[in-house]
Order: sequence, then C-alpha cells, then structure tokens
Amino acid sequence: MPESSSRVAIVTGGARGIGAAIAQRLATDGLAVAVLDLEESAAKGTADAIAAAGGKALAVGADVSDSAAVDAAVSRVAAELGAPTVLVNNAGITRDNLLFKLTESDWDAVMGVHLRGSFLMAKATQKYMVEAKWGRIVNLSSISALGNRGQANYSAAKAGLQGFTKTLAIELGKFGVTVNCVAPGFIVSEMTRATAQRIGVAWEDYLAAAAEKIPVARPGEVEDIANAVSFFAAETAGFVSGQILYVAGGPKA
Ligand SMILES: NC(=O)c1ccc[n+]([C@@H]2O[C@H](COP(=O)([O-])OP(=O)(O)OC[C@H]3O[C@@H](n4cnc5c(N)ncnc54)[C@H](O)[C@@H]3O)[C@@H](O)[C@H]2O)c1
Repeated sequence: MPESSSRVAIVTGGARGIGAAIAQRLATDGLAVAVLDLEESAAKGTADAIAAAGGKALAVGADVSDSAAVDAAVSRVAAELGAPTVLVNNAGITRDNLLFKLTESDWDAVMGVHLRGSFLMAKATQKYMVEAKWGRIVNLSSISALGNRGQANYSAAKAGLQGFTKTLAIELGKFGVTVNCVAPGFIVSEMTRATAQRIGVAWEDYLAAAAEKIPVARPGEVEDIANAVSFFAAETAGFVSGQILYVAGGPKA
C-alpha cells in the first residue's frame, strides 16, 4: 500500500474558506494537493501557504461546471503532480431566495456548481482511481439538505449530492474507491458572512444567534470540516463508504 505521501488530491473551491482548510490539512497529512478554483490566481494563495509550510501544491484555475475546463484541469494535475486519486468536491455557491422569487438562472447556477460540478470532477478523476485500484472521493453536502427556508436550490443540490455519494460508493467500491459525504452545519466563512450581509444582520449578532441553536454552543470552524475530510481520505478509512457525516456541533440542524 503506497504511503499517503505519494497520493495526489484535488480540492475544488480551495482558494478560501473550507476548501483552503481542507487543502492545507491534506497537505499536512502528506498528500500533494491541487488547489482548484475559478481563478488560478486565487488558488495560488492556498498553494503558496502549503508550499511555505513544506508541502507540495499546485494552483489550478477551472470552472467545475465546464466539462472542457474540468478535463483540462484534471489532465494538468496528472501531468504536473501525478495521478489524482483523492477528490474533494467542495466548490460551492449560494443563490438564496424564497421559491416565488427564485429565478431559473439561480436554480441552474447552484445545480451547475454543486451537482454538475461534482459529477464532472468525479467522472474525470475516476479513471485514475480505478487504474490505481484505490481512491477517495469526499463530497461536501450541508445541513441545508434537510431543508432550509430560502434555499430550495441549495437544499436540493446538497440532498442530491448525498444520493450521488451513495451511488458512486456502490459503483466504485470494487475498485478500492470509497465515496463519502461531509455535511457541515454553520461554519464561519465568507459564505456565511455573505448570508448575514444579504439578510441585513450584523455579523456578531448572526454568529451569536447561530451559536445559541448549536448544542456545542459555538459556530463551526473550517478546521472542523477539514478534520472530517481527512478521516475519510485516509488510507485507514477503506471500509467506510457511502456515509453522510453531519459535522454540525449536534445531532440535527
Ligand atoms: N460555510 C458554511 O457554513 C457551509 C455549511 C454547509 C456547507 N458548506 C459547503 O462547503 C463548501 C465550501 O463552502 P465555503 O463556506 O468555504 O464557501 P466559500 O464561498 O468561502 O468558498 C467557495 C469556493 O468555491 C469556489 N467556487 C465557486 N464556484 C466555483 C466553480 N464553478 N468552479 C470552481 N470553484 C468554484 C469559490 O471561488 C470559492 O473559492 C461549499 O460546498 C458549501 O456549500 C458550507
């Protein structure tokens, strides 16, 4: 069994927030990490931080919902870092609105990044995993999959990712590939800051209100999610597949 130091991971949406923390954590675990985001220049910040800490990283620019861009990005990672056998589908956007105000373009945009993006990335990387007879795919869902006012598009996409996870786990298991899902609760990031701003609530008040509803009485940090992804991506997690792990400071949203 190769050591994790010879594994190559791709983390989508790795320029900031949860994705940046995941990329840094996987690099600390000994993997070479391709930090993929819309703009290569934005991904470079995370890749440089990994390199400065002694790790190996490559910044790659690609829109995960664009199949040609995905294929080119994955080929580049294979050529420059090695065969990608760990994929973390983390890239995400929100376009929140109540159903009667939700536009078709906001519906399509959210489906495009979360569902189509995860599908295209998984499809482009699975051949390397099947060839290696080893792989790890971790998809980022959300407690919003259980239902969240104003997020019909996001909630449907995040619930869809859970079904996607379970089906890929069944299809790819015999090739040594596990597929799991991490479903974060409230995490401090630009995404939640943007939500607070959109609904016109001061950030500190928004944080305090969130913490009040969370059993461990604090909002989540990006490292809380990175720890869970690290578990699923590890060599030792080979008998854990098709699981949805809520990392939300309590049992329910
Ligand atoms: N922050 C939370 O509280 C929270 C809770 C549950 C789930 N999540 C999920 O975790 C993941 C990361 O969230 P975050 O809070 O770090 O978000 P974020 O907005 O801070 O970062 C998301 C990253 O994805 C990138 N991205 C967006 N569209 C892309 C595309 N088409 N192609 C490539 N990259 C793209 C963005 O450029 C950005 O760097 C998302 O899937 C999100 O839905 C977040």
